[in-house]
Amino acid sequence: MATPSIEDRKHAAAEAAVAEVASGMIVGLGTGTTAAHAIAALAARVSAGLAVDAVATSHRTAEAARAAGIRVIDFANVAAIDLCIDGVDEIDPQLRAIKGAGGAMLCEKIVASAAARMIAIADSSKDVAQLGAKPVPVEILPFAQAFLERRIERLGGVPSLRMAADGAAFRTDQNNMVLDCAFGPIADPDALATFLSNLPGLLGHGLFLREIDTIYLGTEVGVTRRDRRF
Ligand code: A5P
Repeated sequence: MATPSIEDRKHAAAEAAVAEVASGMIVGLGTGTTAAHAIAALAARVSAGLAVDAVATSHRTAEAARAAGIRVIDFANVAAIDLCIDGVDEIDPQLRAIKGAGGAMLCEKIVASAAARMIAIADSSKDVAQLGAKPVPVEILPFAQAFLERRIERLGGVPSLRMAADGAAFRTDQNNMVLDCAFGPIADPDALATFLSNLPGLLGHGLFLREIDTIYLGTEVGVTRRDRRF
């Protein structure tokens, strides 16, 4: 049998997560290439009769879900949801993750926090022993850029302003900017998250330390599941 491609692995993880969706749920849809597989898998179930409402973590996810036939409601009017399904950039054995390579981590964090349960989905390349090989993205108020760069540097991080393809600064759905902050191996994710959360003008960061309940990982030999134990 051929080794499954990365996309096959993402798809298998997404299908496993979407299998947990039940009729009547409000489902949070993440952003990114793996979440796109979950949108496709959910759309297939909706066209087969599953009745759900969805909230989206980004404009592009809302558009993709609507185009696939999923009813998307405005999260601004929703206080709580049943299940959130989203990708990760890195995830460690304690189900702590870095998210935000797609720039949607602020809304992803809000939707994940509103969810009774969050399932992360990824191919096994995202499975790491320790967080920090990838930068931690932070969404910032443009007004605070230089101040925040200095504070992050003082902590030992290397902030890099994310750029868009057109050469201008990348803008989030909220029209803010993103600093991708390289810290190297993160010995104490809780301390880093607290530090970042306390910086004025820093609107959200990509450390998801307590939100994820379950991870489905697409591996070479199928999908594995890990659950939060505490
Ligand atoms: C979006 O802002 C991110 O948090 C994504 O969920 C994360 O980067 C995973 O993306 P991929 O599934 O595209 O790797």
